[in-house]
Amino acid sequence: MLRIVFTECTWSSIGLVLCLGFGLFWLLKGARLISGAGWLIKNQSEAWEGTSLDLSSSTAIVTGANSGIGYYIALGLARRGSNVILACRSKIRGEAAAREINITLSKFSCKGHAEFWQLDLSSMQSVRSFASRFVQEKGMHLNILVNNAAISDTTSSLTEEGLDVTYATNHLGPFLLTNLLLDPLKASAPSRVVTVTSIVYRWASEPLSTLRRIKDILPKHFSYGKSKLMNVLFTMELARRLHHSGVTSNCVHPGFVHTGILRNTPVIIRMAIHTLGFPFIQSAKRGARAPLFLCLSRSLTFASGLYFGPDLRSSLPTLTALDPHLSRELWRESEKLTGLQNGECLGEAWSKEEEITEFEGKEGSVLEREREVCQNTRIS
Ligand SMILES: NC(=O)c1ccc[n+]([C@@H]2O[C@H](COP(=O)([O-])OP(=O)(O)OC[C@H]3O[C@@H](n4cnc5c(N)ncnc54)[C@H](OP(=O)(O)O)[C@@H]3O)[C@@H](O)[C@H]2O)c1
Repeated sequence: MLRIVFTECTWSSIGLVLCLGFGLFWLLKGARLISGAGWLIKNQSEAWEGTSLDLSSSTAIVTGANSGIGYYIALGLARRGSNVILACRSKIRGEAAAREINITLSKFSCKGHAEFWQLDLSSMQSVRSFASRFVQEKGMHLNILVNNAAISDTTSSLTEEGLDVTYATNHLGPFLLTNLLLDPLKASAPSRVVTVTSIVYRWASEPLSTLRRIKDILPKHFSYGKSKLMNVLFTMELARRLHHSGVTSNCVHPGFVHTGILRNTPVIIRMAIHTLGFPFIQSAKRGARAPLFLCLSRSLTFASGLYFGPDLRSSLPTLTALDPHLSRELWRESEKLTGLQNGECLGEAWSKEEEITEFEGKEGSVLEREREVCQNTRIS
């Protein structure tokens, strides 16, 4: 009798321990994917820094580089010898960041350089001026473009050009900028376009109908998430159009990072997020590691159309984010809204039926490619 009771107790304890262990495992796995907190992910950066590219005499652009993650991406690229353009909307903040980076560079006797150029991504006019200045002053020399700048705004407003400010800043501005800089990127191949998105894109609904109503005052709820889904769709479509060009297009979720991105969110929500997320939140410096990895990793020189997490591993995006019809429609709509003319964009490539068919045939191999890249970039 005693033995039966003991056996039952033992089995239920083992079951309980297994359930707890399993639950904890999935909790940590989820937290690791979302946050990228240091204590969840060990020392990968040190492992890849040794094999990263030397960027001497290269040119890079980082948007929104005056603060947060963008500042440390710019610093990381400049420390490896790149001439980095800090594309920021505020002259005061942009110049201060460039000055600070240059002081750090001279302290460590690094070859790179940082300079501030004015760019307001919510204004298509400003994006055009920036791109034409770039071509005039730097010619066909652009190795890395990091689309980092974004806002998470909870108040609805339209820009002077009559576009919703969140979608204009987070998607249309980067879309136009990248297209206008494709000639220098192609001429400098192998070159890279890295777009900083967010894991919240997963919970966003189909964004196309929203983009079609971008000239209305749109409800703000989930607009950040939708704009981040647009970032992933844009990355995938760009990768397809740049197939064999030597220019890669990848995107990255940097983790849960302590920056000013939530500055326009109501205080209560901000406090709740920071309190609950406290054990997982990481510094902006650490948040820059995954985007920098995409800029610097040698094994990613020709890898394109991938989504990376803060653990430096690629993973398959959601089916919506991988939908080629949706990304093609989004591209067309974005062309219309930004006024991109034929000859300024990749219009030729996607109108070729055979290329579209070829891509659709390959859709099933995305996972395979993803595994391959994962193996090459796994950190021991
Ligand atoms: N922090 C996180 O937990 C987290 C998580 C996932 C993804 N991300 C992504 O990481 C990226 C960087 O964000 P962050 O967290 O570092 O936030 P942040 O510190 O607020 O940086 C955003 C940068 O974008 C700039 N910017 C905003 N609107 C602009 C415009 N119209 N034109 C040009 N620049 C503009 C800001 O400049 P001002 O100083 O002038 O405002 C700022 O430098 C974003 O794409 C964000 O979606 C962040």
